[in-house]
Amino acid sequence: MTSNNGRDYIVIKALEDGVQVIGLTRGTDTRFHHSEKLDQGEIMVAQFTEHTSAVKVRGKALIQSSYGEIRNDE
Ligand code: TRP
Repeated sequence: MTSNNGRDYIVIKALEDGVQVIGLTRGTDTRFHHSEKLDQGEIMVAQFTEHTSAVKVRGKALIQSSYGEIRNDE
């Protein structure tokens, strides 16, 4: 695998239309800073960065990371 600059990637695949991927800020203040809408079958590949400490996924999706795979439609 090529370098990912020390940052973990996660993959989010939408299992329905209108799935929201929301980035939350790193630091003392935890707030939404970005929201991305995915339609069914669309995939987002994202990293945790200096600006993004957490990701909230709203809607049915398949999420893959180095910790494994999780679906939130069960
Ligand atoms: N500019 C943001 C950042 O560097 C972009 C980003 C990275 C992002 N990972 C994300 C946005 C996850 C939403 C979800 O942090």
